[in-house]
Amino acid sequence: MAAAVGSRTCAPAGAAERPPGAATVPLLEARGVTRRYGNVAALSGVDLQVMPGEVVGVVGDNGAGKSTLVKILCGAVQPSSGELLVNGEPVTFRSPKDSRQRGIEVVYQDLALATELSVADNIFLGREHRNGLLRVLDRARMAREAEEALKSLAIEIHSVKARTGLLSGGQRQAVAVARAVLWGSNVLLLDEPTAALAVMESEKIGQLVSEVAKRQVGVVLVSHNMPQVHALCDRIVVLLRGRVVADLRRDETDVQDIVMWITGAALSRN
Ligand SMILES: Nc1ncnc2c1ncn2[C@@H]1O[C@H](COP(=O)(O)OP(=O)(O)OP(=O)(O)O)[C@@H](O)[C@H]1O
Ligand SMILES: [Mg+2]
Repeated sequence: MAAAVGSRTCAPAGAAERPPGAATVPLLEARGVTRRYGNVAALSGVDLQVMPGEVVGVVGDNGAGKSTLVKILCGAVQPSSGELLVNGEPVTFRSPKDSRQRGIEVVYQDLALATELSVADNIFLGREHRNGLLRVLDRARMAREAEEALKSLAIEIHSVKARTGLLSGGQRQAVAVARAVLWGSNVLLLDEPTAALAVMESEKIGQLVSEVAKRQVGVVLVSHNMPQVHALCDRIVVLLRGRVVADLRRDETDVQDIVMWITGAALSRN
């Protein structure tokens, strides 16, 4: 297939640059992942690796397969073929619940926060602290821990008791990221987290991504915002019609180069 010819790939996280003793097993890996919808191949033979503390950008035109890949990585969609590995161990995710148990959290653009619930309730949704024989919700503890989590990430929300529906889009994204961090996730998958956000809010999510990566969480960031992708990501994986055509190290590429790969123009150049 033409798309594979002239493709450019690099070792994940730059093996040569990795400090001695650093992890060499990816936190999360996709091998030869293919997903078909009828006659449409949304993904074909996709390989992806995410190392601890690495931010991997996944970019491509509309319909290139980015969201399909994220959905497969979190178990919302099953691959037609290929395999997933967590810490080098083959896994099968039947639902996002399975992937969450392995420390993988996903944040979608239209993410699933319950707008009627408070910020603290959202952060603890499905993992509530309870007290005593009657298993009464320990709201004070949840509020305290939610506050600590937001504070540690410098997320400004006036009260964790505020109804989530009253927050801005950016604040909601931040709460979703905080939730993932609080639960000690190993990998954070972000599918266009900043698409609907204003400049400042989008910057904030960018800072959160960097902060999370410093804590050795691996991040997969899907975005159409090329300057942000280039600024935040250690590696940028380019999908073109469901195939990986380039795997670029940040220091070896720039926004214009990435765009050439996205459009396919770089294929005829190389
Ligand atoms: N549930 C589905 N049923 C049928 N086809 C689908 C389904 N989900 C995705 N596809 C197809 O798979 C291809 C990849 O879609 P996907 O949503 O992964 O693209 P994307 O890269 O996320 O695009 P965008 O940038 O617009 O979000 C598209 O051709 C799409 O129409
Ligand atoms: Mg998408």
